[in-house]
Amino acid sequence: MAQTFSTLRWEARSLVLLDQTQLPEKEVYLVCKDYRAVADAIRRLAVRGAPAIGVAGAFGVVLGAYELLRQEKDFFAGLEAVFAELAGTRPTAVNLFWALGRMEQVVTVHRQDSPAVVAAALEAEALRLYQEDIETNRRLGAHGAALLTDGMTVLTICNAGALATVAHGTALAVIRAAVDEGKYLKVVACETRPLLQGARLTTWELMKDGIPVTLITDNMAGYLMQQGKVQAVLTGADRIAANGDVANKIGTYTLAVLAQAHGIPFYVAAPMSTFDFSLPDGKQIPIEERAAEEVTRLRGQQIAPEGVTVYNPAFDVTPARFVRAWITEKGVFRSQGGKIKLEDTD
Ligand code: MRU
Repeated sequence: MAQTFSTLRWEARSLVLLDQTQLPEKEVYLVCKDYRAVADAIRRLAVRGAPAIGVAGAFGVVLGAYELLRQEKDFFAGLEAVFAELAGTRPTAVNLFWALGRMEQVVTVHRQDSPAVVAAALEAEALRLYQEDIETNRRLGAHGAALLTDGMTVLTICNAGALATVAHGTALAVIRAAVDEGKYLKVVACETRPLLQGARLTTWELMKDGIPVTLITDNMAGYLMQQGKVQAVLTGADRIAANGDVANKIGTYTLAVLAQAHGIPFYVAAPMSTFDFSLPDGKQIPIEERAAEEVTRLRGQQIAPEGVTVYNPAFDVTPARFVRAWITEKGVFRSQGGKIKLEDTD
């Protein structure tokens, strides 16, 4: 399926981002000419989704390097500040830190080289990360498609689609691959309060592809499952601990518990770069808390009394025991004796 938009692209030494805060009303592209603009775009979710913010962060480093080169300042000290600013944007999705780690490795390897050589090497690495993301998602989609059967209705939350990656998506790459194999699938998109990534983004990109999608509010999911209207739940992930615990958009845990109560498989699709093997389980995953206004306002409109106390965690952690399988570019992982293992593909 040809994609008619680009989530992010590198053009004339600028990072061009589809401004997701304006979707679905407007398809506006943001041109980031410096790393501060990239950091700002990540913070306010103009670019979002774990793989996409990783790649955007990498290009942020490239922009920072070129800026330092022009200013003829202390290049390596300046780069450290660039890395720190980008790493401080959002805490939960490990793909950001993974991508920045790849960029840091380039700096380490080229420590003795001129700043111009380092900047060019950083640009090449960011372009590699970009390309790898496309290929990873294709592979991941192909592995996961086998889990979906013709006629299924698949429920998802947030946006784990092309808009959350360079292309194809993660959860939606699985759906796209299954549809490409000739399976007829329907998708139920949870609206995903507070920022409505499901309502605004998942529906938008699936409708562009002609994949049937039904929008529900988050609190309708249990009722649909009870009525037998959902055959699988499939989500993305922001960070997966070594034991398979999954941090993903707030509301994911609720869906996993509901799925188990109704005997519906709950699948997670994510690249290997979303795994954080340094964390034994999900308890240590940092959960981002965002501004109260995201809850008290809906698309600019005040919907709660001024001054009300608000709690706004952007993610939750689903324990591994609720996950039927983890779909990655390496293949499908399943839980075996408390550990997650790659399934035999023979
Ligand atoms: O706050 P967001 O919109 O960046 O949250 C995104 C998600 O939770 C996605 O499900 C996750 O990043 C996986 S995207 C392939």
